[in-house]
Amino acid sequence: MILVTGATGALGSLIAERLSGRGDTVLGTRDPRQLEASLPVRRVDFDDPGTLVEGFAGVDVLLLVSAGYGEDDTVIARHGAAVDAAEKAGVGQVVYTSLTAAGDHLPYALPHRWTERRLRESALRWTVLRNGLYAELLAAIAAPSADGRITAPLGEGRLAAVARADLADVAARVAVEAPAHAGRVYELVGERAVGGADLARAHGPHVTYEPGTLAGARAGIAASGAEAFQVPMLVGTYSAIAAGFLSHTTGDLRRLLGRAPRSPLTAALA
Ligand SMILES: NC(=O)c1ccc[n+]([C@@H]2O[C@H](COP(=O)([O-])OP(=O)(O)OC[C@H]3O[C@@H](n4cnc5c(N)ncnc54)[C@H](OP(=O)(O)O)[C@@H]3O)[C@@H](O)[C@H]2O)c1
Repeated sequence: MILVTGATGALGSLIAERLSGRGDTVLGTRDPRQLEASLPVRRVDFDDPGTLVEGFAGVDVLLLVSAGYGEDDTVIARHGAAVDAAEKAGVGQVVYTSLTAAGDHLPYALPHRWTERRLRESALRWTVLRNGLYAELLAAIAAPSADGRITAPLGEGRLAAVARADLADVAARVAVEAPAHAGRVYELVGERAVGGADLARAHGPHVTYEPGTLAGARAGIAASGAEAFQVPMLVGTYSAIAAGFLSHTTGDLRRLLGRAPRSPLTAALA
């Protein structure tokens, strides 16, 4: 049996769609009432480890979608509880959605690497899907203002952005074929790195790219009502892209999709 966690999230729900025809798949979410699904649903809340005993019962493949919003200690506690429970429940293999190695400079990399190490040191079989940053995330953090200006502080930096739907396709495939992917780490970044100027062009002639500064972005994010941990997350994302750390591409995504990846600009503008 396959269990997909985080099934109401943007990535989890796309994965659930792809597995919806299967008789061997169940979905996990913190609040099953929020989920109208054709598959059975279990309550799975990493902040409430008691839910994981029943939640993981009978599961062969746990598709562990990272629960990455929070301070590092919060996220580590969540993922640690999930791996502890998987061991106790006798889960055969954990497929974990991690972060691309190119993202090591990002402020939210540490809990991903912690979780990878926890899995490597466990008795479980595991597969690590090191997801690149979503094209949809780039679109959100570099959206044009009402007067048509993209001021995100990306400089000349580019991001090997990946459509979330492609990551869902790969995750669903790997979950179904899990034993063939045991012990593997995949770098799932896009094949084409895109920057602020590319985004502006894709929006059309009414949009220009006029990159601002990190200091300006930090002040704007802090004033927007963002939670304290989100400020360094977002500023660090701009900084890593601008400094050229996230433009690296690999062929893992195409190999696992068995086709060309979706266009990051089309995904960003959708
Ligand atoms: N690669 C990227 O660009 C990128 C961008 C943003 C985030 N991420 C990471 O990738 C994950 C999935 O992305 P997404 O786009 O689907 O984000 P999302 O739509 O915000 O979904 C967040 C997910 O976290 C789950 N979650 C939160 N707290 C949890 C808990 N205590 N126990 C179990 N699950 C919990 C939610 O599950 P339920 O609500 O269903 O319980 C939901 O699936 C994120 O959580 C984050 O770690 C990656």
